[in-house]
Amino acid sequence: MHSFKIAVLPGDGIGPEVMAETLKFLPIVEEHYSVSFQCTEKNVGGVAIDENGKALPDDTLETCMNSDAVLFGSIGGPKWEHLPPSEQPERAALLPLRKKLGLFANLRPSRIYPSCTDLSPLRSDIAKRGLDILIVRELTSGIYFGTPKHRNDTEALDTMRYTREEIERIADLAFSLAQARGKKLTSVDKANVLETMVLWRQVVAEVSKRYPDVDYTNIYVDNAAMQVVSNPQQFDVMLCGNLFGDILSDEVAMLTGSLGMLPSASIALAGSEETSPNLYEPAGGSAPDIAGMGIANPIAQILSLALLLRLTCKLELPARMLEQAVSDTLSEGIFTKDIAQGKPAVSTSHMSGAITERFKYLLGT
Ligand code: IPM
Ligand code: MN
Repeated sequence: MHSFKIAVLPGDGIGPEVMAETLKFLPIVEEHYSVSFQCTEKNVGGVAIDENGKALPDDTLETCMNSDAVLFGSIGGPKWEHLPPSEQPERAALLPLRKKLGLFANLRPSRIYPSCTDLSPLRSDIAKRGLDILIVRELTSGIYFGTPKHRNDTEALDTMRYTREEIERIADLAFSLAQARGKKLTSVDKANVLETMVLWRQVVAEVSKRYPDVDYTNIYVDNAAMQVVSNPQQFDVMLCGNLFGDILSDEVAMLTGSLGMLPSASIALAGSEETSPNLYEPAGGSAPDIAGMGIANPIAQILSLALLLRLTCKLELPARMLEQAVSDTLSEGIFTKDIAQGKPAVSTSHMSGAITERFKYLLGT
C-alpha cells in the first residue's frame, strides 16, 4: 500500500471551509484504492501572521518539505492589507514557498463547462464554442526573482533574467503536457523587444524538435492577450514566462466566468531534494467577503485535489472520476451562489455532498 503525506494549509477567508469539504474525499479514495493519506494541517498567510508572527512559519515550511504534496487553500484579506506589500500574506508566504520548494512551473487549466457558458464575459457565440486552455507559467525566475532589484525615491529597478536551463525545463514540461492533451503548444513571448525573450524563443524552438507530434507556434504577448478573447478555441497549451503567465492566466481564468472552479498545480523540480512536493491550490482568492457563511464554491479546491491525485499519486482514474463528478453535478443544475445567476443556490457542503454522491457512484461502476 502506498502512503502519501499531505501538508494541508487551509489559510484565510474561505480557505478553511472549502478545505474541510475537500478532505472528505480522501477516505473515499482510500476505500477504493490501495492507498493511504496522512494529512498534517499547518497555518499559512494571515492566520499565521496572527498566530505565529509570520506568514510562512518555519514549522509550516518544514512540514511542506517533509510531505509528498502540499494542498493549499487561499490566503490574504482586508485585515492584513495595511501591512507593507512585502509583508502581506500573498507575497510573504507564496513567493518564498515557491522558491524554497523549487516550484518552477505553474499549471492553470481553464475550461468552460457547457452548463455554465452564460457565466463567461465572452460574447455568447464565442463562449458556446467552449474553451479548454492550459497555461504553463514559469514560476521561480524571470522578473519576479531577477537581481539586482532595488528602489529608492528617485529610481527603481527590477531585472528580467532567464537562463537556457530555466527555459529548457519549463518548455520540456509544457511540450510533454501538450502531448497528453490537444498536441498544440503556443509559446508566448516579447521577442520583438526583450533580449530575454529572444533567448526564450530560441530555446523553446530547440526543445520543440524533440516533440515533432506537437504543433508549435510562437505569439507575442500583446497579440496573445487579444487572441484569447477573440478566438480562445485556437489554444491548447500556452507556455509563458513568469510575468506574462501571471497576467494571461488571470485573463483566461476570467473568460470562464467561474474563478471559483479553477484549480492549479505548481510543480517541483524533480530529484533536487529527497522529497520535492508539488503544491495544489485554487486559482481564485480567499473571498473574505463571504468567508464563514457556508456559501463558497468548493469546486476549485476539490479539483485541486484531483490534480494532486493525478500528478503526485499517479491515480489517474479517481482523478478523472472526481473531475467527472464535478462536471455531472454542474450539468444537473446544482450551483453555489457565485455561479447560480439568480437561480436557487446550494451551500458549500451541499455542493460537495452532491459531488461526493456522484464520485461514489462513478467509483462503484
Ligand atoms: C498568483 C498571484 C501571485 C503572483 C502574487 C499574489 C504574488 O497573483 O499566484 O498568480 O503574482 O504570482
Ligand atoms: Mn496572479
